[in-house]
Amino acid sequence: MHGPNLNLLGRREPDVYGSTTLEEIDAQLIAEGSAMDVEVETFQGNLEGALIDFIQASATRVDGYVVNAAGYTHTSVALLDALVGVGRPFVEVHISNVAARENFRHSSLLSARAAGVVTGFGPASYSLGLRGLVERLRTVGAGTGTA
Ligand code: DQA
Repeated sequence: MHGPNLNLLGRREPDVYGSTTLEEIDAQLIAEGSAMDVEVETFQGNLEGALIDFIQASATRVDGYVVNAAGYTHTSVALLDALVGVGRPFVEVHISNVAARENFRHSSLLSARAAGVVTGFGPASYSLGLRGLVERLRTVGAGTGTA
């Protein structure tokens, strides 16, 4: 699940976020999921409420979430509440290394409740997050399915 402005990947601050588009990241994740026998569904939203609606609507059909909440990472109690509320594990990912950027990006409202956090590996952060989530789901025996 991708938060605000990530639809602009490839054009948005390429020095920070690289030249890979969101469509390329999604296609890569779907392929990597398939190789692990996992179905990956993708969603991008610019509105906090749209992300929350997606979480609530998808929770019964998914086993967990790989989440780049983008700017909402640092501000959204409501997004945290939605993720925790549906009771599915989630991995927080960031393309850039948020710890190496402005101070306001150093705090995340999601991290403390995430199964794990991956930050700074470019688009590969998503792949690593997906692998971590699948590993986690298989370890705790939550089964396969979409992630
Ligand atoms: C981001 C980092 C956030 O601080 C920022 O607001 C983003 C993208 C990342 O992937 O590096 O939009 O989540």
